[in-house]
Amino acid sequence: MSEFLNGFKRTHTCGALRGSDIGKTVRLVGWVQDYRNLGSFLFIVLRDRYGVTQIHIDAASPLFEQAQKIRAEWCIGVEGEVISRGKDANKKLATGEIEVEAKELRVFNRAETTPFAIHDKCDADEKIRLKYRYLDLRRPCLNYNIITRSKVTGIIRRVLESKDFLDLETPILGKSTPEGARDYLVPSRVQPGAFYALPQSPQLFKQLYMVSGFDRYYQIARCFRDEDLRLDRQPEFTQIDIEMSFIEPEDIQSICEEMICTIFKEILDIDLPRPFKRITWDDAMNLYGVDAPDIRFGMLLNDVTEIFRNTEFKLFAQALEQKQGTIRAICVPASVKMSRKDIEQGLADVAKTYGAKVLAWTKVANGQLDAGIAKNLSDAEKTALIEQMKPEDGATLLFVADKLNIARNALGRVRKEIAVKNNWVPKTMSKPEDVGLTWVTDFPMFEWSDEDNRWYAMHHPFTSPRASDWPAFERGDFGQVYAQAYDLVLNGIELGGGSIRIHNIDVQKKVFRALGIGDEEARAKFSFLLDALSFGAPPHGGLAFGLDRMIMLLTGADSLRDVIAFPKTNKAADLMTEAPSTVDSKQLDELCIAHKLPTEE
Ligand code: AMO
Repeated sequence: MSEFLNGFKRTHTCGALRGSDIGKTVRLVGWVQDYRNLGSFLFIVLRDRYGVTQIHIDAASPLFEQAQKIRAEWCIGVEGEVISRGKDANKKLATGEIEVEAKELRVFNRAETTPFAIHDKCDADEKIRLKYRYLDLRRPCLNYNIITRSKVTGIIRRVLESKDFLDLETPILGKSTPEGARDYLVPSRVQPGAFYALPQSPQLFKQLYMVSGFDRYYQIARCFRDEDLRLDRQPEFTQIDIEMSFIEPEDIQSICEEMICTIFKEILDIDLPRPFKRITWDDAMNLYGVDAPDIRFGMLLNDVTEIFRNTEFKLFAQALEQKQGTIRAICVPASVKMSRKDIEQGLADVAKTYGAKVLAWTKVANGQLDAGIAKNLSDAEKTALIEQMKPEDGATLLFVADKLNIARNALGRVRKEIAVKNNWVPKTMSKPEDVGLTWVTDFPMFEWSDEDNRWYAMHHPFTSPRASDWPAFERGDFGQVYAQAYDLVLNGIELGGGSIRIHNIDVQKKVFRALGIGDEEARAKFSFLLDALSFGAPPHGGLAFGLDRMIMLLTGADSLRDVIAFPKTNKAADLMTEAPSTVDSKQLDELCIAHKLPTEE
């Protein structure tokens, strides 16, 4: 029979006892992490979320027989005296100096044999761990991640509330406004055939709070996006969502920097220098190839297009014949030994994943280019390359010749791959140099889609163009218009993004038109926003951080799944509750919904 607590309250947690407690009578409660019967005595390692404490039971003790039956993951209580472990002290453990000599044992509940061992080195399949997630969460590493998450949200609330931010909620059942990712839809029962959408972010509501005069808003907000999932994307995730009135980008950036610095200090004991680095989107793309650059190492991209403007080397010449054709190169230092196979298979595959056809290469020996594409280049081209890139002997030059967006991105990804392979970038951060934080500013307002033959907003349609680009906007030269938008990037991952918003109804209508949303459609979809803008909307702006990504980077976790208590798989499934699932036909009837399942090919 399992026991209720019956007044058996703990006096300490399993992480609390030290040498100074020797001689005290204490009560501990927790789970059996480990037990061992050594004949003349047995010990139990008792665990709770604060740590572990060793419990000692002598063979002569009247408890010995009962204790012999105890197994892993039973939930028990122990009363006893704190004694010294003497020369057997475990220095690696906070409680390693002591153990508790049990005088009373309580079994609150037995446990079946768990489907996997509950410790950090557990290598059970992730699917099993997700099915029994509540057990997985007992493991100290996941426990730490979830506790860190709670600490971080506490810090965020403290910093923002000290600056007069209000924690304001926004609706979960909202209107579908397709732009960005796909919506999760919720059918309305009382209005058959109509649907709510779950919010992809609280974007428009936080803007409406500004129109209402609340001035400084924040929310730790759940967001839902039905998109293709990756290690840094979940269908249901959390944003630290912020909005302010009467500000310029520097105002909100400065508050965010203070928040991030406080988090790094309190969680990792790292003092970060301020202000954070700033780089424009154009520079990020030209130097790092990507809009979320890892700035912790060099090996920057070079634009070598002009050297090859009239080249006879077919591969390069053909690339330059295309619209926006370009040639970008990086110089890999001699310390990185790269075989032909490393390049033509490993790295070239990375480049190909990002659309490049070929990753060209050559090596430098005795101040000359040698091997790879060297034989295809003229002397003048070789000399110009050496002059521009200044490679050391033993260096490898890597090239992608392609359309601008492909060449930069593919080479940027190759650059990062080399850094990861050669351990240039640590996964966990323990000192300021491990932290590559930068704002990326001045994003293009629009991006062109060849596929859809239309412009898309690079951030979202409520982002304001830069005032200086207004003439280009009025001319319809949308490719030349930049936005008052900014991202914060940490170690090559986009941590958050935001912008100054449009607060003028005419500008908003013009931006909608540029995006192919005519006045009528804009009214149908966004009449509430357009109306609100016409009633004295203040200048305002904001930003949202991905909380899950922040915790993943702070804890060094491999995936968002390791920092979300009850996450979804790549197929957006919860393996524990088995969601999503089919529902009763009665429920569907009430919603006037009939299935139309895809037919199997
Ligand atoms: P954005 O779409 O850039 O901006 O999202 C802000 C941040 O949210 C995180 N994020 C995600 N994290 C986990 N899984 C996902 N599927 C996912 N998608 C986004 C990222 C990202 O930087 N309303 C705007 C913000 C604003 O303008 O204020 C917005 O949602 O870390």
